Amino acid sequence: MRYLFVAIGALLFHYGLAYKAAVIEYYSESRDTPSDTILKNLQNYRTHIEKVRDQGVEIIVFPEYGLTTLVQDPEEYAIDLANDTKIKTELSDMAQEHALYIVVNVLEKSKEDGSTTKYYNTNLVFNRNGDIIAKYRKINLNNEPKLTPGTELVTFATNFGVNFGLFTGADILHHNPSRSILEFDNVTDIIYPTAWVSTLPFYSSLTVQRGYAQANGVNLLAANYAKAKDGRGGSGIYLYNGKYPEIYIDSSPSSKPIVQDVTKIDRRQKPTTCSSISPQGLPIPDDKPKLADFKTLKKFDASDYTFKDVDLSKEQVSTTVCHRQFCCNFNLTIAQPANTAEFFKLMVYSGKSTLADEEQNIRVCSLLACKDNSKDSCGERASSTTKFIRISIGSQVESDNTTFYVPLTLNNDLRPIKETSYCEQSDSNNATYIQLNTYRTQSEVLVFGIYGTSAGSSDVNAAIRHSTFILLLWLVIAKFIVL
Ligand SMILES: *[C@@H]1O[C@H](CO)[C@@H](O)[C@H](O)[C@H]1NC(C)=O
Ligand SMILES: *[C@@H]1O[C@H](CO)[C@@H](O)[C@H](O)[C@H]1NC(C)=O
Ligand SMILES: *[C@@H]1O[C@H](CO)[C@@H](O)[C@H](O)[C@H]1NC(C)=O
Ligand SMILES: *[C@@H]1O[C@H](CO)[C@@H](O)[C@H](O)[C@H]1NC(C)=O
Ligand SMILES: *[C@@H]1O[C@H](CO)[C@@H](O)[C@H](O)[C@H]1NC(C)=O
Repeated sequence: MRYLFVAIGALLFHYGLAYKAAVIEYYSESRDTPSDTILKNLQNYRTHIEKVRDQGVEIIVFPEYGLTTLVQDPEEYAIDLANDTKIKTELSDMAQEHALYIVVNVLEKSKEDGSTTKYYNTNLVFNRNGDIIAKYRKINLNNEPKLTPGTELVTFATNFGVNFGLFTGADILHHNPSRSILEFDNVTDIIYPTAWVSTLPFYSSLTVQRGYAQANGVNLLAANYAKAKDGRGGSGIYLYNGKYPEIYIDSSPSSKPIVQDVTKIDRRQKPTTCSSISPQGLPIPDDKPKLADFKTLKKFDASDYTFKDVDLSKEQVSTTVCHRQFCCNFNLTIAQPANTAEFFKLMVYSGKSTLADEEQNIRVCSLLACKDNSKDSCGERASSTTKFIRISIGSQVESDNTTFYVPLTLNNDLRPIKETSYCEQSDSNNATYIQLNTYRTQSEVLVFGIYGTSAGSSDVNAAIRHSTFILLLWLVIAKFIVL
């Protein structure tokens, strides 16, 4: 089987239907001085570049804060791109010498209006000639008080025929830029350096990455900062069709290159039809990741959410759960006999995000594994034996351009659930039906649901008003189901 994929990959590559990419899950090293730290990491970057270049890689992505380590004070680490710094020259030389595109994240300083120095969290793209062809400044800063947020969307073209968009870290949860970048029709692939702390149950690194690629039909190259004891780590290359041949998460303090052929696509392929459930997701190797030391933080205030218990003794569970105006239908087929000493609950929420520092409206509905019968115990890692033959979650929402949905799936080993299909099908009545299904029996399920986020608080209120009619429609349908 494995050889078949390799053969298909080689064929696609040969005919120019794919490009070869590398993302580095990177363990950043610290030295006594800021400049020694950066130079040490630059040296490590060089080693990675040399290795992947031998495999024919055309573009390599390093994570956020990889060169500097996770410093709070940018002053001594920041580089001025207007002045020819040693760091810039070294990166440029590496790109030129190995004739590949390099994406790195740096702390940037810039003297503006001749007086104040501003600091930015910046991604730089070097082309094969060593020129900087794109510079993106992170828009959604996250606990980075000394930095100034960026304001501009950035895209760049490559000489292997793929146009990329670029963003970093918490940007992936925000409309600007993670959805606004998709207003450029020419962008099919996204580059995503991050230093992500996984927070259960909804913001685990690989889940968020995979959900973004799957919901938007883009290829995503995600490079994360490895620091498992702080809950950081989890990188991958995700394809537009929901497949992800390579993902990585581990608790060892070391770096890991992921090299993958990425299918070239003419345009993004948002999954808009729910009728045919096509298999998505290649089998991934069964090497159980070593995750004992991976710190998993949890942020979940159960009292805010509407819950419904899952009766594991029933083979078929079909029900609708609502919170405010947001409703989800759940359809579960549970392998019998099930261990009724285990606990799963259905959960729905619509309202302010309890995670973000700033106000953001979210909607989420999910099947969650729980440690005991209490709501607070839901969404934590715990081994389970319950097998779900099928899980289907659907929600009918208003069609608008301000609320965006992604699938959320997570196993107890902190990997997304691979055998799933996701779709958003719009009808002529301004309604969209969102559906997430499994198509193979699943065990060790931790989270399985849909997550929606809105562009702004005022927007969602308008959207909710629009949805009143759909809600009424729903109540009528729900009534028929109950009867
Ligand atoms: C960049 O170099 C110029 C000229 O050498 C200098 O005036 C300026 O202060 C430097 N900028 C920074 C931010 O160090
Ligand atoms: C994509 O299209 C936009 C708008 O037409 C343009 O400004 C941008 O340069 C294009 N990007 C690439 C990578 O071609
Ligand atoms: C739920 O499952 C039942 C039984 O298989 C099926 O008849 C029904 O259409 C399903 N509903 C949804 C929303 O998938
Ligand atoms: C959403 O955006 C699309 C494309 O820009 C547009 O055709 C559609 O009318 C918009 N819908 C709403 C509800 O604004
Ligand atoms: C859909 O929404 C638009 C904009 O809100 C509205 O003008 C239009 O009448 C709606 N169409 C239907 C069928 O409800």
